[in-house]
Amino acid sequence: MITGKNITKTFRQRGGVLAGREVRALRGVDFAIEKGGAASFIGESGCGKTTLGRIIAGLETHDSGEITIDGTPMSPLKPRRREPYFRRIQLIHQDPYSALNPTRTIHQTLNAPLALRARQTRRPQSWVDERAEELLALVGLDPGYVLPRYPHQLSGGMRQRVVIARALTVDPDMLVADEAVSMIDVSLRLGILGLLKDLRERLGVSVLFITHDVATARYIGDDGELYVIYRGQVVERGHVETIISDPVHPYTQSLLSAIPVLHGLERPGEQPVVPTEALDESHHDAGCLFARRCPFRTERCVAELPVLGHAEGTPQEHACFHPERRSVVATPIGRG
Ligand SMILES: Nc1ncnc2c1ncn2[C@@H]1O[C@H](COP(=O)(O)OP(=O)(O)O)[C@@H](O)[C@H]1O
Ligand SMILES: [Mg+2]
Repeated sequence: MITGKNITKTFRQRGGVLAGREVRALRGVDFAIEKGGAASFIGESGCGKTTLGRIIAGLETHDSGEITIDGTPMSPLKPRRREPYFRRIQLIHQDPYSALNPTRTIHQTLNAPLALRARQTRRPQSWVDERAEELLALVGLDPGYVLPRYPHQLSGGMRQRVVIARALTVDPDMLVADEAVSMIDVSLRLGILGLLKDLRERLGVSVLFITHDVATARYIGDDGELYVIYRGQVVERGHVETIISDPVHPYTQSLLSAIPVLHGLERPGEQPVVPTEALDESHHDAGCLFARRCPFRTERCVAELPVLGHAEGTPQEHACFHPERRSVVATPIGRG
C-alpha cells in the first residue's frame, strides 16, 4: 500500500523561452493505492501526471508532503534506505524502445536483473533462465522467439511486453504504467491493457494507470479509483464507474464529453469540446484553477480555491463549488 499526503512539486524551467519561470506541477496531491488495487490518473498533457508517477516510483523528488509505503514514511529515510521500498514499484513508460538497451538481446536484458535477484534470494543460477522463460510466457511472448533477439527485431507491442517482463523480475508490488500504450500501434493497445489487467488478477500486483484517455482509464480499473487531475490539483476522485456515469466537476465533464464513443455510455456533452490551450502556470489568482475556462463560474469561484472533499452528498470527492450534472464544454481562456 502506498499513500501520498499533500504532495507538491514546482519546477524551475532551465532553458528555452520559459527559462527561469516556475511551473507548479503538483499542488497538494493526496492519493492511496491499496495492495492489489487499481487506480488511474487522468488529465490533459502537462497536468502533472508523469511527475506524480515518477515521484511514486521514487524517480523524482517532491518538495513537500509525505509518501508512505507499507506504513513506512519515506522522508526520514536516507535515499539508500528508500531504495528497497521504491524497487517494489516499477515504472513502465510510453516508449518501450528507449526503455530497452538496443545493444542487448532480450536474454541479456532479463538476465542481469534476474541474476541479481537469484543472488539476493539464494537461488541457483539455473533459476535465472527458467524464470526468464516463465516471465516471457506470462506476458504472452514466445521465449524461444524473443530471447535471442534485439529490441529492434521486435514489434512495439512485443517490446512493451518485454519491458513489463523486465519490471516483473523484481517481483514488484505495483506497476505504474505511464501512457504505456500511447506509442503502440492501435491494434495492439488492447492486448497490452488486457495483459496489465491480467497481471493484476494473477499476481496481485497493483496497477496505476496514467493516461489522458478516459476509455483507457476505465478499461484497466473498473473496480478502481479514478483521479482527475487539472493543473496539478486532483479535482475529482472516486470510483471509476461513478465518475464516468456521473461526473460532477465541470473539467471532468468536459473530458468525458471529448470522447465520442465510450462503451456503454452515451456522450454526456452535446457540443464538441473546445481544444485546450497552453496555460501560463505562473499566472494564477486566488480562485479555482479551472475558473477561467469554466462556463459556470461564479464570483466565489474566482475568489476562492475549492479543495477536494465530499460535498453535497456526492459519492465521489470533488473540488467544485457547484457540483451539478450539466452538458459542459470547456471554453478557451480569455473568452467565455
Ligand atoms: N524535469 C522537468 N523540468 C522542468 N519542468 C518540468 C519537468 N518535468 C515536468 N515539467 C513541467 O511540469 C508540468 C507537468 O508535467 P508532466 O508531469 O510531464 O505532465 P503530464 O505527464 O500530465 O503531461 C509541465 O508543465 C511540464 O512542463
Ligand atoms: Mg506525461
